[in-house]
Amino acid sequence: MDLLELKGIGVEYDSNGKKLLSLENVSFSVQSNQFVSIIGPSGSGKSTIIKILLGLLKPSKGSVTIGGKPLDPSKIKLSVVFQNAALFPWLDVLKNVEVALEPLTDDEDYIRETAKKFIKIVGIDGFEEAYPRELSGGMKQRVSIARALATGPDLLLLDEPFAALDVFTAQALREELLDLWESPSLPPDTILMVTHNVDEAVQMSDKIVVLSPRPGRVLGEVKIDLPRPRNTRSEDFYTVVDNVVKLMSSD
Ligand SMILES: Nc1ncnc2c1ncn2[C@@H]1O[C@H](COP(=O)(O)OP(=O)(O)O)[C@@H](O)[C@H]1O
Ligand SMILES: [Mg+2]
Repeated sequence: MDLLELKGIGVEYDSNGKKLLSLENVSFSVQSNQFVSIIGPSGSGKSTIIKILLGLLKPSKGSVTIGGKPLDPSKIKLSVVFQNAALFPWLDVLKNVEVALEPLTDDEDYIRETAKKFIKIVGIDGFEEAYPRELSGGMKQRVSIARALATGPDLLLLDEPFAALDVFTAQALREELLDLWESPSLPPDTILMVTHNVDEAVQMSDKIVVLSPRPGRVLGEVKIDLPRPRNTRSEDFYTVVDNVVKLMSSD
């Protein structure tokens, strides 16, 4: 079943009195338990799509439905991880994860235990009392993944989460996130990622939605059914990468 459906989305920003078209007639869907990526160059409106889903921006045209009903961000559990970890610098790691849980319950024991559990799941246990400035970029991103998962989201949104990391850290985190996604007892079940990295999208996704340069339009979709974990050096992998690259340059 479609968990999320965007139909004919158009977004116009007001830029110094001038209208700037950011998205044009964007339609795609995400099914439950799917990993979908949106790929497009810088400025193609990827983050704009994330803002719409978070309820931070109302599109000028089109509709967004979740489970067949109009999007109401207060009725679905959404979490997001951004390129920069966006941690509170004055809070330690444990507290940075706990803050996400505090709006959901008054049960302090539950908040503490859940935060600790997810800190362990992302491999930074032992650093509960460290402050963000003491952590590497990869560790900070682990904290923000722990924070995003601790609330048990129905849909995890990722906005270029690996783009600021060195290649080794990025690759390790991609694999760990895929393991979490594939683990039936742990969140997240459904992921929507935006990225400009073709290899990353092909490695991770069931489906890739290709956006044109601004204004972002859907140039096409590529479905990927290569077995996981994917061999990123296989001929089959390169064939899919080629298909995505061809679509990207078909504009
Ligand atoms: N708040 C805003 N006001 C005006 N223009 C914006 C605003 N946010 C984004 N834009 C413009 O919309 C386009 C798409 O932006 P964005 O969604 O951030 O793209 P991406 O994430 O793909 O790089 C860009 O050209 C950007 O300059
Ligand atoms: Mg962006």
